[in-house]
Amino acid sequence: MENIAPALLDWFYKNRRILPFREDPTPYHVWLSEVMLQQTRVSAVLPYYERFLAALPDIPALAACDEEKLHKLWEGLGYYSRVRNLQKAAKIVCEQYGGQLPADYAALRALPGIGDYTAGAIASISFGIPVPAVDGNVLRVFSRLYNDPGVITDPKVKKAFTARVMEHQPPEKAGDYNQALMELGALVCVPNGAPLCDVCPLAGLCQARAAGTTAVLPQKAKPKPRKVLPVTVALVESPAGFLVQQRPAKGLLAGLWQPLLWESEHLLQAEVLARLAALGVDTGTAVPEALPAAKHIFSHIEWLLSGVALTVPEQAAPAGCVWASREELRTTYTLPGAFAAYKDRMLG
Ligand code: ADE
Repeated sequence: MENIAPALLDWFYKNRRILPFREDPTPYHVWLSEVMLQQTRVSAVLPYYERFLAALPDIPALAACDEEKLHKLWEGLGYYSRVRNLQKAAKIVCEQYGGQLPADYAALRALPGIGDYTAGAIASISFGIPVPAVDGNVLRVFSRLYNDPGVITDPKVKKAFTARVMEHQPPEKAGDYNQALMELGALVCVPNGAPLCDVCPLAGLCQARAAGTTAVLPQKAKPKPRKVLPVTVALVESPAGFLVQQRPAKGLLAGLWQPLLWESEHLLQAEVLARLAALGVDTGTAVPEALPAAKHIFSHIEWLLSGVALTVPEQAAPAGCVWASREELRTTYTLPGAFAAYKDRMLG
């Protein structure tokens, strides 16, 4: 195949979106934006990106940020392990590299939360190093360009596609080329049915377009069905606020806050009252009110939430819990999106 870079780059320079992390593509800016963009759309990321950088303008500030503040800056983006890894890596960068990301693909790749894609994006976009940065957009473009039915979630296929990506990469424009491929995937060679081939700079070279197969590419493996788990929530309110507890430092939603709950259990109201009493909560004469059922989808599991709300007399919080006022829930404690269905009630 003819080299795609000239037509692709020409299209990119005329059609790229103006994005804040492209205005000043320092290694920190590119790193942060790429991590935010991993599971989240550009339009959703932009306000978070600006707010995060205003609060934590450099890597030393990120390394020194306290946990509650860090979670609050990420609240609503989900996949919180991303921000925990960001901070872990920032601490290492401060200890080992004087607070600046290293201009070295392997050293970047070795940092927590930085995989092949993110290392490649930082190395190529910020440092001009000629390495690949292959995300889902790029795999889609190449599956169509070569009309290749390889399953893109298969590591062998990804490796073979990456080799093709590199055959076309101009070493002196590695960052622009990588971003142009992503941008083409995001704006033109779009997923889920018909791409916008009429405006594609590579339409004349595209083998899937010639074969009429764009709509069935890329091929993906069937996702594994998620495990569905019941969760029973108790929204316990007193004059001091809502009873909340911090999740364990490891595992799902690590370190975030939640109302009292029991995972993997669907409890009846009477059982909830008994569990609360066993924790030492004086439920007084509270009449529990059923909460609406809700669902939350994580990457590998799905929670089916149900539970009760109840108002209890003022009292000390049981071990491991605190009473959090509405104000504190808004400004200090981060409740993950899994509790979105009950958040309005808690935040007032
Ligand atoms: N999606 C993720 N990173 C991107 C980038 N740098 N340019 C365009 N789309 C992206």
